[in-house]
Amino acid sequence: HNPETERLLQAYELTAKLYHYLLKNTEYGKAAIEYLRNRGMNDKAIDHFQIGYAPAGWSTLVQFLTKREFPLAEMEKGGLISARNEGEGYVDRFRDRVMFPIKNSSGKIIAFAGRIMGDGQPKYLNSPETRLFNKSRVLYNMDHAKASIRKKGQAILFEGYGDVISAWEHGIQNGVAGMGTALTENQARMLKSLSDEVIICYDGDRAGQAAALKNLPILESAGIQAKVALLTDGLDPDEFIRKHGGDRFTHQIIEGAVPPLKFRLINLKKNHILLEEGGRIAYSREAIKLIAPLSSPTEREVYLRELASEVHVDFETLKQECNLERQQMQ
Ligand code: GTP
Ligand code: MN
Ligand code: MN
Ligand code: MN
Ligand code: MN
Repeated sequence: HNPETERLLQAYELTAKLYHYLLKNTEYGKAAIEYLRNRGMNDKAIDHFQIGYAPAGWSTLVQFLTKREFPLAEMEKGGLISARNEGEGYVDRFRDRVMFPIKNSSGKIIAFAGRIMGDGQPKYLNSPETRLFNKSRVLYNMDHAKASIRKKGQAILFEGYGDVISAWEHGIQNGVAGMGTALTENQARMLKSLSDEVIICYDGDRAGQAAALKNLPILESAGIQAKVALLTDGLDPDEFIRKHGGDRFTHQIIEGAVPPLKFRLINLKKNHILLEEGGRIAYSREAIKLIAPLSSPTEREVYLRELASEVHVDFETLKQECNLERQQMQ
């Protein structure tokens, strides 16, 4: 590391400590503590993930960093403070937000995500990309999760920080999250280097399911055996775990995760009205396109029989269609 990078690492470390202290031990942090408690987060998780609070004032961190003689221009590049719009000097960048330090896989803080309490935009304010922080190469909680991922031979890929934290509170240690819903090849490779199996466990809402569909091929291309957890009622994993507990999450949601093809078929089905002939025909056609490339005749038969009963068409007929499709593929 060059000296500037070293200084930034040190500043992040100290800033995380400051925010954590302010959250836990001062009047400033009271509303934030209340907010976290209302979300159901416990003290152990707050400590473990070094969650903090950036106060509402304009210069808490500026003063803190100045006193410790950090070069402020560097701190601005690191996204801790911003240049004033008018006049000289700097102001705090994160104000009145709950702060989640983001660590690299060696456990060094390389960025922050600050959540607004209540409604407002942006919901999460992130550090900018720096020499230390390349969003596409970071998975939240990787430093802690890697041992568990290796041991279990499985990683759980969540959408959000809150999901990872809830899971952790309930003894599920192999959870990580990307920075938002875009997954990159690099992140897939990181996961593949630890285990062959990844469960995508995104939110049960439309956005989450769409992101799962989009990210599946990225995991598959990395040679990962991916499965997709199905969350119902639009809940996200955090909400599911807090509502139904960790055991039900593990046994129903994680163990019930479905293979990619099954997930794609489930999504396909949602796009068609099976009560209408046209819907059943279109669904069959598209489903067969997904089933035909399977190399195992048994797997094809299993899915075709399921399809047969869904669309009320004879299995033999679907098998013919499927074989036609296979001929065209060659
Ligand atoms: P909570 O509402 O705090 O439970 O957050 P969530 O993690 O459930 O958020 P959501 O499902 O809306 O988004 C999933 C992830 O996308 C978050 O954890 C963030 O990483 C990212 N994200 C969501 N909103 C924003 C935003 O406004 N800005 C940025 N940069 N990222 C966001
Ligand atoms: Mn959430
Ligand atoms: Mn979401
Ligand atoms: Mn969510
Ligand atoms: Mn609980």
